[in-house]
Amino acid sequence: MEMTDVSEEKTMSITQLLHIKYPIMQGAMAQIAKAPLVAAVSNAGGLGIIASGGMSAEELRAEIRKTKELTDKPFGVNLMLMMTNIDELTTVIIEEDVKVVTTGAGTPKTYMPIWKEAGIIVIPVVPSVMIARKMEQLGADAVVAEGTEAGGHVGETTTMALLPQVVDAVSIPVIAAGGIGDGRGIAAAFALGAQGVQIGTRFLATDECPVHENFKLACLKAKDRDTVVTGRRNGAPVRSN
Ligand SMILES: Cc1cc2nc3c(=O)[nH]c(=O)nc-3n(C[C@H](O)[C@H](O)[C@H](O)COP(=O)(O)O)c2cc1C
Repeated sequence: MEMTDVSEEKTMSITQLLHIKYPIMQGAMAQIAKAPLVAAVSNAGGLGIIASGGMSAEELRAEIRKTKELTDKPFGVNLMLMMTNIDELTTVIIEEDVKVVTTGAGTPKTYMPIWKEAGIIVIPVVPSVMIARKMEQLGADAVVAEGTEAGGHVGETTTMALLPQVVDAVSIPVIAAGGIGDGRGIAAAFALGAQGVQIGTRFLATDECPVHENFKLACLKAKDRDTVVTGRRNGAPVRSN
């Protein structure tokens, strides 16, 4: 009987890669995912992620420093690559010694060599198999496969359909996002081959989240049909509630 060398096949787990206790990432949320929320998630054993979308370079630097005051655990920064100040944000990330970057809204191709040189773990958020493959070729350490159930900017494929296809297509770890709200969703993501999950909406109702109390209550009261996707016609669909 032929034996398979399991040790050779095994990729590094997401908890080992990110030096975290639980394979749970808090999704970046522009104007929302700031130091208090990010640090709370990291302190609890997940990976908090600062959303830099809409920030100036100096605002990002201040947020990174504030986060470091609140936690000594790993955390990341999300870069929306269509932002015009991405060069300055990249400089801040390197100067402030941020260890993990997640990306969205564009290709990280230009920046990948600079980030890798700085020893940064790069995790692009992808809506399709094709883009997941491209990110692996560019040197991504993992990808977040985000289904259309997610809050914020969305693709068209559901998490259930997208995730196993991305898992089959790449050999780097895959993190699932989109519609995961509790342990059942996490278990389902693992059953489909994910090594971790990224959760956004669920964190909106936390004490550390800076959105208005009424919005938190609306999230808690929301029913199955209470989210809406706008912007499909102009090619930039966004899910909100
Ligand atoms: C209010 C809101 C803002 C978001 N902003 C960003 C962002 O700035 N950058 C990004 O990459 N993803 C953003 N996302 C997506 C999240 O990081 C995450 O992938 C997504 O929320 C996961 O799906 P879930 O909301 O069903 O948990 C946002 C999501 C929400 C709900």
